[in-house]
Amino acid sequence: MRSMRRAVCPGSFDPLHNGHLEIIARASNLFDEIIVAVSTNPAKRYRFSLDERLQMARETLSALRGITIEAMGEGLLADFCRRHGADAIVKGVRTSADLTFEVPMATMNRHLTGVETVFLAADPAYVHLSSTLLKEVGSLGGDISGFVPRSVYRRMTAPPAGRA
Ligand code: PNS
Repeated sequence: MRSMRRAVCPGSFDPLHNGHLEIIARASNLFDEIIVAVSTNPAKRYRFSLDERLQMARETLSALRGITIEAMGEGLLADFCRRHGADAIVKGVRTSADLTFEVPMATMNRHLTGVETVFLAADPAYVHLSSTLLKEVGSLGGDISGFVPRSVYRRMTAPPAGRA
């Protein structure tokens, strides 16, 4: 059996937070190459544009060896993986609710193209983090500086007119 070399870490990353970073870092210890795939779902309203989400990921991650950042487009994740020759998808799991949500998608993705999903249990230090919660806490004046990378914090705290 061929060893797994390239994996995709997909997500909206709206915005990227330290829980994502921890999973991406651990994934990069398991695989030679990681593609961080930033998704676009036309049915979703994002706080940050695709360009901003890509920029935040690049500013935070692109200095790291073996990690590239790509827009996933609006198609299937399984097709993105096939196009990029990825052996696996890596997802972080915080709670049993995450697993309940993720397992059917993992099974569907395997049926679509044979790509496997590898689940990494989130470190307990990050299980309370979600992009949704951080946006809410940040918008109501809570201190989120310890939970997001610097480039994200800068954008989260910039006045709306200051954002592109
Ligand atoms: O950060 P998110 O919003 O939880 O990321 C969800 C994502 C992008 C991983 C998921 O929505 C996805 O895989 N979207 C691509 C469309 C697709 O392949 N849908 C079928 C999944 S079986």
